[in-house]
Amino acid sequence: MVVLGIETSCDDTSAAVVRDAHEVLSCVVASQDEVHAEYGGVVPELASRRHTESIVPVVEKALKDACLKVEDIDGVGVTVGPGLPGSLLVGIAFAKALAYAAEKPLLAVNHIKAHVHAIFLDGKTEGGPSFPFVALVVSGGHTSLFLVKDHLDFQSLGHTRDDAAGEAFDKVAKLLGLGYPGGVAIDRLAKEGNPQAVEFKRPYISKDNLEFSFSGLKTAVLNHLRSYGRLVTTKELRDIAASFQEAVVDVLTQKVLWAAEQTGVKDVVVCGGVACNSRLRERLKELEVEGGIKVHIPAPRYCSDNGAMVAAYACHLLEKGMVASMDVTAIPTFEE
Ligand code: KG4
Ligand code: ZN
Repeated sequence: MVVLGIETSCDDTSAAVVRDAHEVLSCVVASQDEVHAEYGGVVPELASRRHTESIVPVVEKALKDACLKVEDIDGVGVTVGPGLPGSLLVGIAFAKALAYAAEKPLLAVNHIKAHVHAIFLDGKTEGGPSFPFVALVVSGGHTSLFLVKDHLDFQSLGHTRDDAAGEAFDKVAKLLGLGYPGGVAIDRLAKEGNPQAVEFKRPYISKDNLEFSFSGLKTAVLNHLRSYGRLVTTKELRDIAASFQEAVVDVLTQKVLWAAEQTGVKDVVVCGGVACNSRLRERLKELEVEGGIKVHIPAPRYCSDNGAMVAAYACHLLEKGMVASMDVTAIPTFEE
């Protein structure tokens, strides 16, 4: 089974061809970072306009790299939500037109669940997580914990009540004058800082609670910066970045451990853009020893938004005959 996956939920235009939900035949990502950098965040109108320009060449390249023609694929998967409405609509309109013209089934994919399927990519059929497992999706738009019982069977354990972890990274990076996207910049700067320099309060909400809240942490960084009453030095900047990152990583690792304990599972998947964070990856490895669990993290290229994870999820929908109708549309807050 060979499926084309299309992803345009935020600011990356991506298309990929995946065989049997795990073998990536091609994956093309057109980043829009340079479009949004000067605004310090994603500008929805500019994102959808750029998707419109990129979608045709990106899909053409994905098929060409896979040495396939549209007739050779078995289905077209597309992210229908959650995401920015205008961005989602570009991918959906294109996928519908392609599926209709080529007489292929259309598969409607949930972006958050697709992130979890990144763990099965690149032929990872062995050594991967066993069902049921706990999954933490931690990205610019989402911070969600699930108990994943099967490829399509997700039970929600907790979400963020306000900002997503990646959003907090991006907003704090902006406060520190590090530009957009901010997660990578904080990760890099934090390597030279002292994570114990500033004691930011960890927003656990309460013991054993699997919800998240990161907006208070962002405000704490702002208040801390104001408390200097002057420009901070480079050393202080590094220490603040490291201390903020440590607070986020403490919360994420603690909640992953609580989720594994509460559900009694031994396998944990951590995915989404923030799963690229080097300190988080390091701490999750330590957690394997301390917590007696096995942590699975996708390759960094499949942690951030990509069409391959969409195609992988769509393969399972196709296998189960869960084909979308041609009147499917964007569902910006889509959860199921
Ligand atoms: O999954 P993704 O590409 O898009 C969404 O679905 O949101 O995640 C993007 C997010 C951004 O907030 C970005 O700052 C964050 O992932 N990110 C990182 C790192 N690399 C990307 N955050 C922390 N450390 C990183 N190394
Ligand atoms: Zn995403």
